[in-house]
Amino acid sequence: MHSETSSVTSVLGRPYSPRVMNLLAKMTIQQKIGQLSQLSGNEGKISQSLEQRVKQGLVGSVINEVDPEIVKALQQLAIQHSPLGIPLLIGRDVIHGFKTIFPIPLGQAASWSPEWVEKAAKIAAQEASMVGINWTFAPMIDISRDPRWGRIAESLGEDPYLCSVLGNAMVKGFQGDDMSGAGAIAACAKHFAGYGAVESGRDYATTNIPEHELRNVYLPPFHAAAKTGVATFMASFSDLNGVPASGNAWLMKTILRDEWQFSGFVVSDWESISQLQIHGISANDRDSACQAFNAGIDMEMVSSTYHDHLHNLLDIQQVSPEELDASVAKILSLKEQLGLFDQPLQQIQKIPQYYQPDHLAVAKTLVQKSCVLLQNHQQRLPLAAKELSRIAVIGPLADDGYEQMGTWVFDGEAQQSVTCLDALRDYLPNDIHIDYASALETTRSTSTAGFAEAIKLTQQADVALLFLGEESILSGEAHCRADIGLPGAQQQLIEQLALTGTALVLIIMAGRPLTLEPIIDKVDSILYAWHPGTMAGPAITELLFGELSPSGKLPVTFPRKVGQIPIFYNHKHSGKPVSEAQFVYIDDIAIRSPQTSLGMASNHLDTHFTPLYEFGFGLSYSLIHYDNLSLNRSQIKSTEVLIVSVEIHNTGRYAVDEIAQLYVRDLVANVTRPVKELKQFTTIRLLPGQSKQVQFHLTADELGFYGRDMQFIVEAGQFHLWVGGSSATQLRTEFELLNG
Ligand code: GLC
Repeated sequence: MHSETSSVTSVLGRPYSPRVMNLLAKMTIQQKIGQLSQLSGNEGKISQSLEQRVKQGLVGSVINEVDPEIVKALQQLAIQHSPLGIPLLIGRDVIHGFKTIFPIPLGQAASWSPEWVEKAAKIAAQEASMVGINWTFAPMIDISRDPRWGRIAESLGEDPYLCSVLGNAMVKGFQGDDMSGAGAIAACAKHFAGYGAVESGRDYATTNIPEHELRNVYLPPFHAAAKTGVATFMASFSDLNGVPASGNAWLMKTILRDEWQFSGFVVSDWESISQLQIHGISANDRDSACQAFNAGIDMEMVSSTYHDHLHNLLDIQQVSPEELDASVAKILSLKEQLGLFDQPLQQIQKIPQYYQPDHLAVAKTLVQKSCVLLQNHQQRLPLAAKELSRIAVIGPLADDGYEQMGTWVFDGEAQQSVTCLDALRDYLPNDIHIDYASALETTRSTSTAGFAEAIKLTQQADVALLFLGEESILSGEAHCRADIGLPGAQQQLIEQLALTGTALVLIIMAGRPLTLEPIIDKVDSILYAWHPGTMAGPAITELLFGELSPSGKLPVTFPRKVGQIPIFYNHKHSGKPVSEAQFVYIDDIAIRSPQTSLGMASNHLDTHFTPLYEFGFGLSYSLIHYDNLSLNRSQIKSTEVLIVSVEIHNTGRYAVDEIAQLYVRDLVANVTRPVKELKQFTTIRLLPGQSKQVQFHLTADELGFYGRDMQFIVEAGQFHLWVGGSSATQLRTEFELLNG
């Protein structure tokens, strides 16, 4: 039965193209429902059922097929053999690279560089499009404040502004200015929304987030992505305040459509629609399909509740034909924007050219910008080759091309990775002797059998480079940890090696912040490399030997202990904030201390109230000093611009790319506001001994927030303003925002 003429002609006032309208008018109900279905590929072959569904025009998208010949065959089936010849969206998770693997997104975030993050996404899209992929499920822009959560690895950290800026950079990198252009693919803002707030950092767990916290913290990166023009959104697995995202009309319609006027489409997460029954808000698949579709989920990833039940739900008027047409039209419009109707096979290359030298160069630079120097006692780094005759390279991550790629890597190739051991051997002159001992079989090993060899080599060496941290499987989806210390016997290894008296440089590869407090006094220097990807070796080697100075800054807080979590810089003040003067550490509490003798403040007794390393922290090989913070005026009206000036000095011997950060605090507001909020940042190059004046232009709308009535407001009042090299900066001034 052909559908009646569609009443859907436009989205948000923008008319659909004649092609879309023409197809809508021809499509049967089942063909329309087919466009809302994404099926899983079969990794290198086309199953009979998939072939049949595609030929009948009952599939809108295929996920996880990356063989260019298979993808080409699937598209030809759709275009040449289905009733209306509608091409397929070919989806794949290209989270931090397709073949050339870049640092995990949390590492990329440590670069604070939208420019380089965009370059990486553009390269990832170019490589992926070579096999016919035209849609990726990235950027992941869930605000992540809990390092127990494995998916913090694929996030852009804890701050809404930094996450928004870098998430937008990824969208632009993937999509380019025109999605029909060569090498461009559609992006997907995920996971909408609030997924990072899962209880106890346990994946897929419940989230309970007050609306003003949602609007002020978790939604801004998604709003930014919608404004930037991201093609699609993905619903989260998680239950948000009692209503799972995949059935949450407040998220998908009230916020996304009504408030943000988003015109793209929403895809569920993997079987997240059928999971509504498991959550317990639907009685069966038919009920799940009804709730999800009416909540605004346009396409179903892999589960088949739409395919199985939407037709019947239409017949009994549980879902509307107009909404069906609207969903189909949005999906067809994306296919048109991607150029799939005109040149569906244009991008597919019989022999794709991966790992281009210029791509690898970008990967190396992004690793270097992502590494964060956390500690550098006695200025141990950078190393000077001419002063060394023997180096010990120790640890299971020194020579593991697979582990250094990190989580969410489906198509990267370990054999293409350049490991740190390889790079050191390649970089250093032959007269420097390099000894290597893994010491542990894996990062989880508890056997100390390999320690003796490592200790011996360390004793003989001028310096020992320790490559430790987490295997890639210990972070990522469903890979959460209740204890986020160094796994296995790594801490014991460090303690043993410290007894040799040899200088120790620790390079950590990990998918999350780790609780490093037990070992920081055992090593001289700590360089945090996250999981750096294909070009880890050359990038880190050049940093260690001072070809350039580390410049990364933390996009997420490092707790001292797991018990401090959640701990993040933009926290509220509380009515009883703790101060250094008040704090009494548990070991210093007198026996039988009177009940009120310790002061009454918001802190733990058994750990200091500060994090081990704060958001925005990162050292360089020079010493950077900020001063002369000044404003062009002490009061601004809402229409005026506050010009903030500061002088930054490089007092060291190395050129540095310094990431200067601007924070504000709203002292009195309609709801409690964070003690600091990042509002702007910029990176400046400072040569040894050089000073520069940096200016920021701050406008009133950057000071706005969602208040008690959930409306965005900009309120007059007093503000503190800081500029510095981390969120702990004390360089402060103040201004007043006036009414009018
Ligand atoms: C996964 C993830 C999502 C991913 C999707 C497709 O379960 O939650 O981020 O894009 O399924 O692989």
